[in-house]
Amino acid sequence: MSWKSRILQPDTAVEQMKQKAALRALEEVRDGMKLGLGTGSTARYFVDGLGAQVAEGLNVVCVPTSEATRAQAEGLGIALASLDELQRLDLTVDGADELDAQLRLVKGGGGALLREKIVAAASDKMIVIADDTKLVDRLGAFDLPVEVNIFSHGATAAAIGVALAATGNAGDMVLRLSSSDSPFITDGGHYIYDCALGTINDVEALAQALLNVPGVVEHGLFLGYATAAVLAGTVGLQEMGQL
Ligand code: A5P
Repeated sequence: MSWKSRILQPDTAVEQMKQKAALRALEEVRDGMKLGLGTGSTARYFVDGLGAQVAEGLNVVCVPTSEATRAQAEGLGIALASLDELQRLDLTVDGADELDAQLRLVKGGGGALLREKIVAAASDKMIVIADDTKLVDRLGAFDLPVEVNIFSHGATAAAIGVALAATGNAGDMVLRLSSSDSPFITDGGHYIYDCALGTINDVEALAQALLNVPGVVEHGLFLGYATAAVLAGTVGLQEMGQL
């Protein structure tokens, strides 16, 4: 049986594009690799395809970036390990909420930014997979997620506001809520503030300023991690960087 007969069969054009990007990234996986598994609706297709190849004998060991991805990978029989055990990874494949021409990313729409960044930072290569609407001239139209410790999170939010203003990025911030209207809680047990910035001025300065705020656990700017991207559009696949 071909591994392709085992994979999900998406029924909308956008979902099919996401799967195409994911399957192109899957071509970069080699037997014996240590992989980071991303989170979100696009990464899900990568994990699905990987699981189909594992069922046909592919030998890889993976670190998931969320409990949702862990559950999917376990269900597919993909071997998992912790980053503590593996230390370094050959490749991480993950989605993004936005990316620019320099492969700078905004991530965290799904709330997994902390583990996603830890895993990306431990990876020799990171391939971003997305539909091509995620490619933007300037980052910021997608609200920037900032993960914070729950302790005095209102005070931390106020300090985030000061950091935003100091870097020319004033904008509204809202505490992310779950479907039951209670605060959304990340896999790490933290809250997320989503910052509506429109366009981000001086991305590097903002990233540093946010990390300097006590109580900020992580932010959704991923700078210097992605080494390549596969973007799927109606006319086909677009590749950026070194796959
Ligand atoms: C998860 O926290 C995010 O960083 C996702 O990787 C990002 O939101 C992309 O998700 P989709 O592939 O569902 O758009």
